[in-house]
Amino acid sequence: MIVFAGDHLASDRLEEVLNRDLAAGAITPDYAKFLRKIVRLMFKHGPLGINWLWKATLIPLARLSVPIPEIMAVHKRFWLAKQVALCAMNFMLAAEAAGLGTVPMEGFDAGRLRRALDLPRSWEPILVVPIGYAKTDPPKRTRVPLQRVILWR
Ligand SMILES: Cc1cc2nc3c(=O)[nH]c(=O)nc-3n(C[C@H](O)[C@H](O)[C@H](O)COP(=O)(O)O)c2cc1C
Repeated sequence: MIVFAGDHLASDRLEEVLNRDLAAGAITPDYAKFLRKIVRLMFKHGPLGINWLWKATLIPLARLSVPIPEIMAVHKRFWLAKQVALCAMNFMLAAEAAGLGTVPMEGFDAGRLRRALDLPRSWEPILVVPIGYAKTDPPKRTRVPLQRVILWR
């Protein structure tokens, strides 16, 4: 069983990531400066949540006149779930390529799972993925027709 979890404090590791990318020449110092600014703006709650408050209240108003992306500080759990689900997707595809079977499982008691694994409080379990050898005769499945689940615009 692999538990995919996301760390609410991930943005605290920004400097570590930037330093690694700078040392490898993967980003320029100017871009690192830009990222420092944007990540702070997107993620920080500020003392007593004061930054969270204006981000949660004023940004929806400002959005009425200019396009503004979702701010992670306000929608942290949703953002985290998307990022972790993408990691799980890559893992599941890699497992498939290696001849292994996986299934995604959501819908568990996150508190109990966190206690069972002794996860730090900032770590949020998002998805559990068992991995193994799939049956050679998989059960019959159906699919909703493509035209019923796609909106063409
Ligand atoms: C506790 C639990 C949670 C599950 N959550 C999801 C889910 O969030 N999304 C999904 O597509 N399938 C979910 N499934 C279905 C599994 O991915 C899988 O398709 C199903 O268990 C059938 O596989 P099996 O015959 O090997 O058990 C869940 C299954 C279990 C048991």
